[in-house]
Amino acid sequence: MKQTYAQILAEADRAVADAAGKLAGDPHRPSFHLMTAANWINDPNGPVYHDGYWHMFFQHNPYIADFGPMGWGHVRSPDLVNWEHCPIAIMPTPGGYDGAGCWSGSVVIHDGAPHMMYSAVADMTLWSINDDIPPSDRQRIPQGYYDEFLLEIDQETQCIATSGDGMLTWDKHPANPVIPAIPAGLDLIGFRDPFLWKEEDGPWQMLLGSGIKGAGGVALLYRSPDLIEWEYLNPLYIGDPAESGINWECPNFLDLGARHMLVVSPHGRPIYWLGAYAGRTFRPAGAARRLDWGDVFYAPNSLRDPDGRWLMWGWVREARPRDQYAAAGWASCLTLPREISLDAVGGLRVKPAAELKQLRGAALFDDAVDLAAGASDSLGGASGDRLEISCQVVAAGCERLRIQFRRTPDGGQLTELVYDFSAGALRLLRDKSTDAAEVAVEPCECRLELSENEALDLTIYLDNSVVEVYANDKLTLTSRIYPTRAEAQGLSIGCDDGSARAQVAIWPMSSIWSDTS
Ligand code: FRU
Repeated sequence: MKQTYAQILAEADRAVADAAGKLAGDPHRPSFHLMTAANWINDPNGPVYHDGYWHMFFQHNPYIADFGPMGWGHVRSPDLVNWEHCPIAIMPTPGGYDGAGCWSGSVVIHDGAPHMMYSAVADMTLWSINDDIPPSDRQRIPQGYYDEFLLEIDQETQCIATSGDGMLTWDKHPANPVIPAIPAGLDLIGFRDPFLWKEEDGPWQMLLGSGIKGAGGVALLYRSPDLIEWEYLNPLYIGDPAESGINWECPNFLDLGARHMLVVSPHGRPIYWLGAYAGRTFRPAGAARRLDWGDVFYAPNSLRDPDGRWLMWGWVREARPRDQYAAAGWASCLTLPREISLDAVGGLRVKPAAELKQLRGAALFDDAVDLAAGASDSLGGASGDRLEISCQVVAAGCERLRIQFRRTPDGGQLTELVYDFSAGALRLLRDKSTDAAEVAVEPCECRLELSENEALDLTIYLDNSVVEVYANDKLTLTSRIYPTRAEAQGLSIGCDDGSARAQVAIWPMSSIWSDTS
């Protein structure tokens, strides 16, 4: 018998609850990063603050810890720190316009009521990115993650759903799909991931991620008075494929005051431009830059809170093979909320949201440490796998500073964050971080230039398998480690040469979940 939509939702919630019961004690599962109660998560969707709650939605396969027909999971928080899992917000309706997936999008408040706008995928028949597979040989995607395939363009439409009960349940709108086809005259690669905003009392503005064949990745600009009737205006910006690829996912457009910021996920590392927005087009003031310097960050999404502050979260992917995360019963999480703004010279400033300080327990260590060449300091024996480590360093001839964490007493297993003062480079070294086979252990590296008299200022969040580094309010580096030895909990700091003075504070971090451990 055909399931009703209410039964589809109930079954999905049950699948998550059943799977969640089996996850206790997994040493790699984060506890203060947003994630599903079990099974698969990818992009953050529709972050919004409304009626006293922060809401985050996300791409969610409730049935397995792998990609599949996506619904939207939902969590909410009164304070950005204590979160609870809510019922699944929407799921695909088999055979319908979103039968193969309710993909990424936004939530906005229109006429006082929450409206979700998402990309609907009717069918998952795929074509190769080379476009050289005849239609008869195209693959129907099974449960499981896809990589080098894109969707057939006429299977992607834009839809809305509304909620009358504080976003706990959602009704798909009878006018769906509200954007049933791509704009006439454009030859597009993708067509998805609506990002919405309003300019004063004007109509809703929306970007869709796409790529114009033969031209480059593009953010398509639309507008609407009511979220139902949409008018396509023009490309907000078309990228040079050499710089930003042939197709963009999850565009975000942030009004940062003196400059606008365009963020896109071009099937590789997410990038951004800062620039000017005028006459419905965006003009970058310089080259594209990477948004995060690790190996697992993708598809960020942002919100402007009632105080005008921009917060951004990204998807933190796994860095272990598919069979390992599928067996774990959960896969991936989101980053911590990052506050995005401009610095004094119009560059990007990124730092952890101030609310995260509330997760700190009593400090395990809080002192100045004098470091001599070749010596290291074990930071009073402080240890742990869910920590915030804050470290400000003034170097006196020190060329390389090393912070080790998740360290066994014999040093056989450890992860290292190294700052090379002479090269102006920050490196996360993972070659000794695990004994597990096939886990990513390549270094992550980026340039971090310090001006004269500027101290090195690092904040490192360790959350079991997640490492999230914030450096000098300038950049972030997000990665994963999978230590296998239970005693890999130690810390140390040292410098290879010269000397340095470090002010170090270390706190244990509490779980964000009020409903699970
Ligand atoms: C980005 C993305 C989006 C899409 C969603 C599907 O990771 O591919 O473009 O809407 O994930 O889950």
